[in-house]
Amino acid sequence: RLLIVDFGSQVTQLIARRLRELNVYCEIHPYQNVTDGFLAEFAPKAVILSGGPCSVFDDGAPMPPPTVFTLGVPVLGICYGQQVMMHCLGGKVERGHKTAEFGRAYVTPKDVTLGLLDGWFEGEREQVWMSHGDHVSEIAPDFEVFGTSPNAPFAITADVSRNFYAVQFHPEVHHTPNGAKLYENFITLAGFTGDWTMGAYREDAIAKIREQVGDKKVICGLSGGVDSSVAAVLIHEAIGDQLTCVFVDHGLLRLGEADEVVAMFRDNYNIRLIHADEQELFLGALDGQSDPETKRKIIGKLFIDVFQKYANEIEGAEFLAQGTLYPDVIESVSFSGGPSVTIKSHHNVGGLPEKMGLKLVEPLRELFKDEVRALGRELGLPKDFIGRHPFPGPGLAIRCPGEITREKLEILRQADAIYIDQIRKHGLYDEIWQAFVAILPVRTVGVMGDYRTYDYACALRAVTSVDGMTADFYPFSHEFLGETATRIINEVKGINRCTYDITSKPPGTIEWE
Ligand code: XMP
Repeated sequence: RLLIVDFGSQVTQLIARRLRELNVYCEIHPYQNVTDGFLAEFAPKAVILSGGPCSVFDDGAPMPPPTVFTLGVPVLGICYGQQVMMHCLGGKVERGHKTAEFGRAYVTPKDVTLGLLDGWFEGEREQVWMSHGDHVSEIAPDFEVFGTSPNAPFAITADVSRNFYAVQFHPEVHHTPNGAKLYENFITLAGFTGDWTMGAYREDAIAKIREQVGDKKVICGLSGGVDSSVAAVLIHEAIGDQLTCVFVDHGLLRLGEADEVVAMFRDNYNIRLIHADEQELFLGALDGQSDPETKRKIIGKLFIDVFQKYANEIEGAEFLAQGTLYPDVIESVSFSGGPSVTIKSHHNVGGLPEKMGLKLVEPLRELFKDEVRALGRELGLPKDFIGRHPFPGPGLAIRCPGEITREKLEILRQADAIYIDQIRKHGLYDEIWQAFVAILPVRTVGVMGDYRTYDYACALRAVTSVDGMTADFYPFSHEFLGETATRIINEVKGINRCTYDITSKPPGTIEWE
């Protein structure tokens, strides 16, 4: 496996993405954790030193241990990583100002016989993305120059005998269009064969789960979302009936959702599943509550109580399974510090394991979201299930601004089902990150037939997004919106007005509360 030492660049995760796309297994670790002991245990087959916002002249500038350069494995330094290499190996770095470079630049080859550059230069020069203040003014002994740009005489350098490569630019970003080629060449030079497939991951993960769990019991909270579902099926494949899933039905699910989840896991997969029907408890506690944070906190607390109650019934459970993903576990290197502001209290069960004295099983910790989907396909989960839009833990509660009533929830379920049906019929589901209806806490006057109506208004929401952090509204055609509004108003008793939410995030959020 390959080690990426993170010096805090905004784009370090993209390096991992590029390598995973080449079927190479890699891990990102913050530079502070990379000690001699760590290196000995990790035993990397190659090392990449990431970019970062610091200067090698800063007090306590982030540095790798010198051992990185005596492991006898290939090393690639990117941007700040390049400066670190030169600084550690006897070259010189100078402070920036005039030579600082941000943005597009063009690199011209000096010698294309370098393995790292194999097939890279298609024309006379290649577009790359630069982002640096300081620059290398003298390369380390044994290094040679293989490419230059107008502002970076040492854009590409290498010590071929030791398989050390250093580039001033960022090959991992989109604006270095052929950058992936450099990574491909680097891993070839390092002897990787690109055999890290989902099939291999599945086998490996199953073996690890068996080893970790032994003959003990595991409980898994199943939400019906992709991550917990894939985790459950994988663990079930590893340990069968030692796994029990708990599915908490808080009465805030979509139309038919509870039945679907139960049918899928209990009936299709034969997984032990407790269907915790706690609708009365949740809806009772939410009665009369209209403040968004209060609603979220009530649901979060009850969820933990309920989960604990059912989990306690499973005798001898020692492990709690969670569908934690890689982006949640990378300890990012933050130089800005400072707490961030809470916009919404997210519903999670983070504190549960300690509270219950359980150990964690997290078989997806090393995967990105799209890799989880690929693993789901590998495990034979139905395609529709794998492609499902995310659904928040607090469910319909945060799509029903103001007080929640059973009547409103029922109306909301009907409208949402029609909206999603429309989106599927028009073949748009997979283009959209998330789509749902929110029922608004206002009634408006309308006319149907010859009668006056006084019913709820609803808002349709659909956004595109890469990670849910930022989002844009989906540009439906007027025909689609017209047809959908007509269907909802005609088919759902209780709604007589339909609006479309055209707010992006920021300044809006995806959910309404
Ligand atoms: P917002 O509304 O903050 O949502 O723009 C971003 C993404 O997170 C989901 N979301 C949640 N997911 N528990 C979850 O598991 C929560 O409490 C929660 N709140 C929002 C939301 O659906 C969107 O995908």
